[in-house]
Amino acid sequence: MAFKTVKSSVEKANRTIKDQWGQANGDPYRPVYHPIAPHGWMNDPNGLIYDKGWYHVFYQWNPYGSGWGNIHWGHMRTKDFASWQHMSTALAPEKSYEKDGCFSGSAVADKGELVLVYTANVFKDGNHPYNDGPLAIQSQAAARSKDGIHFLKEKQNPLIANAPNENALCDFRDPKVWKEGHTWYMVLGWRDGAKAEILQYRSVDLLSWELDSKVLTSDGMLGYMWECPDLFKLNNQRVLMFSPMGVPKYDGRHVSGYIVQSTDFIEEAFKLVDYGPHFYAPQTFEGEDESRIMIGWVPMFQMNSDKHNWCGCLTLPRELKLSDDDELMALPSKKMKLRKTLKYGINHYKLDVDQTINMAGDTVHLCLKVDIKEQQAFRIKLKASEDLCQYTEIVVDPVMKRVILDWSKAGVANEPTQPKRHVVYDFEHINDETKVGFQIFIDKSVVELYGFDGRCVMTAAILSNPENKRIQISSRSKDILIEELRMYQIEPSVNDLCLGE
Ligand code: FRU
Repeated sequence: MAFKTVKSSVEKANRTIKDQWGQANGDPYRPVYHPIAPHGWMNDPNGLIYDKGWYHVFYQWNPYGSGWGNIHWGHMRTKDFASWQHMSTALAPEKSYEKDGCFSGSAVADKGELVLVYTANVFKDGNHPYNDGPLAIQSQAAARSKDGIHFLKEKQNPLIANAPNENALCDFRDPKVWKEGHTWYMVLGWRDGAKAEILQYRSVDLLSWELDSKVLTSDGMLGYMWECPDLFKLNNQRVLMFSPMGVPKYDGRHVSGYIVQSTDFIEEAFKLVDYGPHFYAPQTFEGEDESRIMIGWVPMFQMNSDKHNWCGCLTLPRELKLSDDDELMALPSKKMKLRKTLKYGINHYKLDVDQTINMAGDTVHLCLKVDIKEQQAFRIKLKASEDLCQYTEIVVDPVMKRVILDWSKAGVANEPTQPKRHVVYDFEHINDETKVGFQIFIDKSVVELYGFDGRCVMTAAILSNPENKRIQISSRSKDILIEELRMYQIEPSVNDLCLGE
């Protein structure tokens, strides 16, 4: 009698990586130096951790398609955010309590082992009361690994089987775990009926958890459910970050924001972490040097992903700081060592009204320092066509005190969730600085903008014609002083397949 080898769900998912390795590369929209799954759909970054010399990046992943579904945890690791090892699939939905997805969660190091704590999802009949999704049973589970690569689900799973009451079993997810002293803490998003809440649990062994407190209860301002909560300290102040669902003022846009604790967390104090149109579900972790690093998801719902065999990527790692007036500042982490070549550089250059600076590139890093004192708006067009009919524009307007990212002329179809096609960062509250630094990363369809020491951050996925590579700087003011301008070309990251089977 012949025996059939039964492959595990992890092996099946790994097979897709082997079979399709490299196939998505070369797609003209696909970023080449951002963290990205080898193929298929990806969403939230999960389990971010620096452990034993490696930065581990896990992520929500569909190995079997470029749309959301079959949610596994993919796994890649790096030492410099420029060379990546793509590891064996970390979590596959194989047990009955998680059969419809291993949803978002976090990682901690415990007794020399890596532990992933995640949401186990099972769909059930019925419609969600506030969106077009189905109902679900969500519980919290964990998996452990000795080598940081192969994970075994805990026998006691699910560890938190039930939400505090029956009001919202379908929204009870995204555990973020950390340790203080001898105690493990977890924050979790859920809703009590129509009210979003962030709960805190505690545990001494990462297995049995008890409800500790409610970190924040919605007064109804910020939607019905807060996904992917994160609670961490900066400058000795607690910062609560989350991604609210269903907030009318954001027109259905995916947004993520934070509240800095003064006495209590107050919903009115919510500010965006990233003002761009395509940024969601960020997670932070402590880097090698105790810096606080954040990575977010760059959603690309507007992409017809069937044609591409991939969809979505992650942002570059950003180091977080808190300003004296409690605004979050995010700048590219110094731990990221992208390989780049200087292509263009000028210093102390006076740009006149009828003059422009012209460059080109679709995998570039632009660094710009400008004196914005008494100026009319100055503009950076990027992803522009040769005839400049199509472009995405960053406008810095010192009179209105606004930075605008406008992609209405990019030549892309309108998106139902982005009716305005421009976003704004208001810098009225920053008045002492006139020499302003900007960094812009362009990676095929992805644009990241960092300005005002990281207070103004915007992420966008602009799926315009890949031939549109022109970059142009201009101003309506006379003699604007460009203190410094550098354009680097960035090499694609190196991606190795390390399934270790
Ligand atoms: C956020 C999110 C999480 C959930 C995961 C499922 O994008 O909806 O709340 O755990 O994605 O993929």
